[in-house]
Amino acid sequence: MTDPAATAEPLIADLPFQCSVPGRPGQGSFPLVLAPDRSGSLQEQVAASADKLLAVLEGCGAILFRGFQDNGVQGFHEVMEALPLPAFTYDESLSNAVRRNRTDRVFTANEAPPELEIFLHHEMAQTPCFPRYLFFYCEKAPETGGATPLCRSDHLLARLEQQLPEFIDRCRRLGVTYTHTMPGAPDEGSGQGRSWRDTLAVADRDLAEKKLQSLGYQWLWQGDDELRVTTPPLPAVSATPSGEGVFFNQLVAAYAGWQHRPEDAGRMLSFGDGSAMPRPALEQLVATAYSEVYDHAWRPGDVIVIDNLRVMHGRRPFTGSRSVLAGLAVASRHGVPGQA
Ligand SMILES: [Fe+2]
Repeated sequence: MTDPAATAEPLIADLPFQCSVPGRPGQGSFPLVLAPDRSGSLQEQVAASADKLLAVLEGCGAILFRGFQDNGVQGFHEVMEALPLPAFTYDESLSNAVRRNRTDRVFTANEAPPELEIFLHHEMAQTPCFPRYLFFYCEKAPETGGATPLCRSDHLLARLEQQLPEFIDRCRRLGVTYTHTMPGAPDEGSGQGRSWRDTLAVADRDLAEKKLQSLGYQWLWQGDDELRVTTPPLPAVSATPSGEGVFFNQLVAAYAGWQHRPEDAGRMLSFGDGSAMPRPALEQLVATAYSEVYDHAWRPGDVIVIDNLRVMHGRRPFTGSRSVLAGLAVASRHGVPGQA
């Protein structure tokens, strides 16, 4: 198979930026780092080379813009507007994280407490509708920690095919279902604390049930106004538009990170036929994913754009008042398990 990073090299040479790659040897152009080589704001330079940037991103999965004048939240908003990618708004998403809007396209990254690790995930891969692209902007760097780990899921899939062939075969054929419990009111102490009213954008239980039914979910009301939901089978292996396989799912974060009630232990993740996922395979998966990670240490003004289909992200614990803002683009839908 051709390495998409290699096919992107001629395009990279054509970009009006200074280019470098900080990743470990053997990781390809990941992430690609672009610095200014002419005057003009980042948003102007992105607008002037938008199509080329998207073509390069298709191959490398993540681009870091560093060393440009920091034009704040509004500047970040304009960088997103400079690419021909329609916004995916947080309000319309089924994200389970608590966030706050700063502009109509910019919101805070997960508000979970700083001591919590947010494990590697593809944004909203556990819901039927997910954003194809993800943007981050560093408004304020943390005192310590707080890096954003990035992991290429095409590389991860290739390694897992060797390590766990049977598990990956079942993932491909059957897909996965996710079960989690949503509180009645937002819980900012949790990485998955968005209330069912906010998540589903509904005011009452009848409307919640109608929405879940339309999405193919199963549900159960629990004490204290909680709603336990199970998704329909979603693919665990997908493909990029150019046909590369990607391990696009939420298994790492759900297994390693989702907080759950004791009664939900071992039931949060199942293959699409309802059978249990073996713990040793999930442990191996988490270890392999983290062995592939590039940890991005933020500087104020950094902007990263991520192809959410190819690259997972997370958040390391930190101290200080880290502010990394996010934006999403291009609403996308899962295919059917077994057809990637
Ligand atoms: Fe995220």
